[in-house]
Amino acid sequence: MKKVWITLAAASVLLPGAALAGTAADMQALADKNGCFSCHGMQSKLVGPGFAEVAAKYKGDSQAAERLAKKIREGGKGVWGPVPMPPHGNLGEGDAKKLAEWVLNVG
Ligand code: HEC
Repeated sequence: MKKVWITLAAASVLLPGAALAGTAADMQALADKNGCFSCHGMQSKLVGPGFAEVAAKYKGDSQAAERLAKKIREGGKGVWGPVPMPPHGNLGEGDAKKLAEWVLNVG
């Protein structure tokens, strides 16, 4: 049953204009679709930091979501090491913001 639900959630991400509820499954599907997991693990570092590490670093920082959304879209380096994150300019501002907020809540 869980599988069916995840498939449905993934399908809703792929439908253009479909409203995103922003559930964890929706967000994982969105991150997957945008290739985030080729460089980020949920917990541990791959090329970039694990999303849980990012969440821990910015815990309590109310400006973090805004900054990270911008960085996801524009790319950048120097916070976690010399390896840069490439820009994801194809990502809309809304999706970048949702991804940033989701990353900040990965435990
Ligand atoms: C080609 C590899 C690559 C891809 C693809 C990638 N990232 Fe990154 N990401 C990195 C690296 C490397 C860093 C560390 C940059 C730094 O040190 O400032 C990073 C950093 C981050 C950070 C922390 C930024 C900071 O300033 O602390 C977030 C959040 C993030 N990535 C989210 C994403 C999301 C969401 C996606 C998918 C849309 C994504 N990344 C795709 C390599 C990648």
